[in-house]
Parts: sequence; C-alpha cells; structure tokens
Amino acid sequence: MTAFTLNGEEVSVDADPATPLLWVIRERMGLTGTKYGCGVGACGACTVHLDGQPVPSCALPLEAAEGAQITTIEGLSKTGDHPVQQAWIEVDVPQCGYCQSGQIMATAAMIRDVPDPTDADIDAYLAGNLCRCGVYNRIRVAAKRAAE
Ligand code: FES
Repeated sequence: MTAFTLNGEEVSVDADPATPLLWVIRERMGLTGTKYGCGVGACGACTVHLDGQPVPSCALPLEAAEGAQITTIEGLSKTGDHPVQQAWIEVDVPQCGYCQSGQIMATAAMIRDVPDPTDADIDAYLAGNLCRCGVYNRIRVAAKRAAE
C-alpha cells in the first residue's frame, strides 16, 4: 500500500510499487487531465507536482510518491482560476491542447521560483515540455502574463 496526498486529500493505493504514477492518477483516481505522451519522461505531457516540483509522472514509480504531496492539473486550483490557467485562457494558448496541462503545471512551478521570467527562463524551465503544434510563442506570452 502506498500512501500520499493527492490534490490535498490523503489516498492509499494498493498496486505494484513500480507502477508509473501516471497510470495510478489516470486509471485508479480517474484524473485524466494528466496526459500520456511518450511514456519515457521525454515530452512533459504527464507533468505533475511532487512536493511542489514538476516531474514527469510516467517516469515516476508509485513508490516515489510515498508520503509526498502530489498535485495534478485538477488540483492546481479549485475553480480553474490559478493565474497560469487564467493567462492561458486570456492568451488562447492551446491549439490541439494535448500537452497543455503539462505546460501549465511546469509554468506554475516556474512562476513560483522566478517571479519575472525572461524568454530564456521560460525556455529553460519548459525545455522538458514539448508541443507538437508549436505554440511556444503563446506559451511565453502567457507565462509572462501569469507572472505579472
Ligand atoms: Fe511522461 Fe512524455 S508521457 S514525459
């Protein structure tokens, strides 16, 4: 049994400790905002926060969540009004949208650490979050707006 906090609630999961956290989040917890892209920690679509740090949940075994605070896109705010979510809506960032929850989770961690990010900061922090539609310019604009 692995116990951790998921979006502010205590949970216990009876599963192989090596199970990728992504599958626990999606299949056991029914939180499908966290996406499966590559499955090998290379695209960022599955980004969640582990004790506040953005991590690829596909590459994180369930056992790594023991005792940790896990936050998914569903837990970022109760009503979708986190500054990053608001900026994403205002700037109309997504094209297909598939990678966006991962982009938002990575950006939320960035603006906590870097209050006034430059393009270089944004590119560096989001280097692990790929967008096949290529909306990187809108991501930069929204990330700066979220940090204002
Ligand atoms: Fe996890 Fe791509 S699905 S990094």
